[in-house]
Amino acid sequence: MVAKISTAALLAGAITAVSAQTYQRLGTCPTLGCVLPPDQSDFLPGQFFDLRVEVHAPVNGSEAFNNGVPDEKFTVTIGKTGEEPKPITEFFEVDEPELEKWDFGWYEDLYAEDAKQKSVVNVASKIYRRIVLKEPGDYQVTLKYYDGETTVANWVVRDVRNKKKAKNIVFFIGDGMTTNMITAARLLGHESINGKFQSLLQLDQFPVLGHQMTHSIDSFITDSANSAAALYSGHKGTVNAMGVYVDSSKDAFDDPKVETIIELISRIWGSAWGAVTTATLADATPTALTAHTRSRGLYGPLIDQALNGMTNYTWTEREGPDVYFGGGAEQFYAGSASYQGKDYYEEFAKAGYSVSLNKTSLESLDVNKKALGVFCKGTMPVWIDRNIYPENLKTFKNDPVAGKEPALDLPGLKEMTVKAVEILHNRGGDKGFFLMSEAASIDKQMHAMDYDRALGDLLELDDTVAATIDKLEELGVLDETLIVVSADHGHGFDVYGNADTKYLADQKDDRSKRGAIGTYAKSGLSQYTSPAPGISYNTGANFPLNWTPRFTIAAGVVAHPDVREDYVISPTPRTPAVDGDGGNYANPKDSPNGFLVNGTLPVDEAQGVHSLTDVPVFAMGPCQNLFGGVYNNVDIFYKFAQCFGLGVPGEGNGDECKAKKPKRRSLRHHN
Ligand SMILES: *[C@@H]1O[C@H](CO)[C@@H](O)[C@H](O)[C@H]1NC(C)=O
Ligand SMILES: *[C@@H]1O[C@H](CO)[C@@H](O)[C@H](O)[C@H]1NC(C)=O
Ligand SMILES: *[C@@H]1O[C@H](CO)[C@@H](O)[C@H](O)[C@H]1NC(C)=O
Ligand SMILES: *[C@@H]1O[C@H](CO)[C@@H](O)[C@H](O)[C@H]1NC(C)=O
Ligand SMILES: [Zn+2]
Repeated sequence: MVAKISTAALLAGAITAVSAQTYQRLGTCPTLGCVLPPDQSDFLPGQFFDLRVEVHAPVNGSEAFNNGVPDEKFTVTIGKTGEEPKPITEFFEVDEPELEKWDFGWYEDLYAEDAKQKSVVNVASKIYRRIVLKEPGDYQVTLKYYDGETTVANWVVRDVRNKKKAKNIVFFIGDGMTTNMITAARLLGHESINGKFQSLLQLDQFPVLGHQMTHSIDSFITDSANSAAALYSGHKGTVNAMGVYVDSSKDAFDDPKVETIIELISRIWGSAWGAVTTATLADATPTALTAHTRSRGLYGPLIDQALNGMTNYTWTEREGPDVYFGGGAEQFYAGSASYQGKDYYEEFAKAGYSVSLNKTSLESLDVNKKALGVFCKGTMPVWIDRNIYPENLKTFKNDPVAGKEPALDLPGLKEMTVKAVEILHNRGGDKGFFLMSEAASIDKQMHAMDYDRALGDLLELDDTVAATIDKLEELGVLDETLIVVSADHGHGFDVYGNADTKYLADQKDDRSKRGAIGTYAKSGLSQYTSPAPGISYNTGANFPLNWTPRFTIAAGVVAHPDVREDYVISPTPRTPAVDGDGGNYANPKDSPNGFLVNGTLPVDEAQGVHSLTDVPVFAMGPCQNLFGGVYNNVDIFYKFAQCFGLGVPGEGNGDECKAKKPKRRSLRHHN
């Protein structure tokens, strides 16, 4: 009895002291008993997942308990609301898994980190692998431990049925793209007369607009790994994790998994699927389609997972991608960055893929075969370097064969995506296809505060969406294809006026240079849509005619290192800050005529970071109306699932894709 009272007191104290702040013992587990998937999880009926339970016994620190001895006799039950709960093994008809034990350490706050004093926790755990809930409804999972403690997880299996309403889905992700960036890109690429645009972005012409909340499961600022996984699986996760709920064990691959849309589509319909990205193929947004790991940086293994699936923990099998186009050759050619040093061009070829390493061979790909296209090492060069400063391409050592010579025969997002649609259309046939196409460098260039390069890639995304619509129409499947354009998270970017770059350069000190910024009435009109004397870019409609006007946009982000700002496009890719004595400082070579802006981030950051903002969702095609309104990122998955018929047999009630009503927080402790 004494133990029980002190548990409650200790737990309550711990929660107010440190839980859910800078550092967390385990983000989804404020008590000493953890159920993963945790409270508030949603599921698609028939979606496979793993269930892990952990009992924590902190050895020391503010939560020290039971001399660091975890309860090994814990029990777990599950029951549908109104029904008698049953032990997990009985309910799911699975064997009792073995008890696992480990320990881990964590810092309770920044003082503990400064003192390098980790709190140590001993853990007892079990994991029930590849289980499934087929009946829609509310469920309660109850973990009982330490002689009277309970942790309850309320789960909802949504009422999604298997009626397929769209033949194909094309999902565009502008990584890091916000409404503010779209507004700025429109100003650069489209002419306006007396306040009225004479042409619009393709995105502006979508019939339905929604708004998604991007928060992670245990932090309000997200990264591209867990936010992409939320979009693809209907389950929120932790920063750096994809397709799993993060547990506290050391193995980055043993965490409890959830089935992704790709795995579902493959298993249920046998549809074709593909990923196109301007990032490395091993980067988070493309790999989250197939990855199950807490650690997005394990690039080599993640490419192996994309091709071969999960090989070492019980899971469902699926087909490899029908189309896989992007950068990141270092994970493909044999070498230290590829999984087990293997040649993944070889591995894909052995699995029946045609492999193309440049734009010329991309264009002549056999549309009936599975296709791998890897066009360079690292992130693909951005639209501005390919179109406005092509000389820059010659300075990169990024060829796809060995990463030593410049890659010059490069496709852009548009060429990759249009080819992908052709191949997927052929290979999917009646079964349709799912394509994810990512404009990755909107995010990457926002991180680098290279706003022109970010907006160039946003305009390229818009151009790609337009070309994709044309291609789908040509193939006769536009009406049967749901097209959704969204983002995974944002950056705190906006434009607040213009900058007279000539006047700014001529002023001698930082304070007078700021006088060159024109706000409100002084912001004038866009100078990007009038041709510059003597310069002709030949980049087509919908792109700026002049990237170096005297009056540029004055733009910035809320989160940045020390930086110099002159508002002039950087002729080479921008490096805003450089490492120096005790952290990062404004790069003295960047923005030579600019003024210093001191940073808002910890000095170990050399770039900007993501921000809180909701992001837009544009939809057209079958089920477009599901995408209006404000909802969670995970809802996108359920909307796709409803439209693609990934649920269970029967008539749905039609409410399955509405955002859940906000519920009162359920009590986690019942004493
Ligand atoms: C907990 O114990 C470990 C191992 O003895 C030690 O390194 C660590 O500093 C201790 N942490 C605290 C918060 O006392
Ligand atoms: C599981 O597979 C991954 C690759 O998918 C590999 O990196 C990891 O080492 C494997 N883990 C174990 C325990 O074998
Ligand atoms: C493009 O790739 C093909 C075969 O993959 C190769 O024969 C050709 O030389 C490459 N072209 C360039 C410009 O690298
Ligand atoms: C402002 O930035 C400059 C250049 O990076 C740096 O030298 C200076 O210490 C910074 N000032 C503050 C108050 O952080
Ligand atoms: Zn990012």
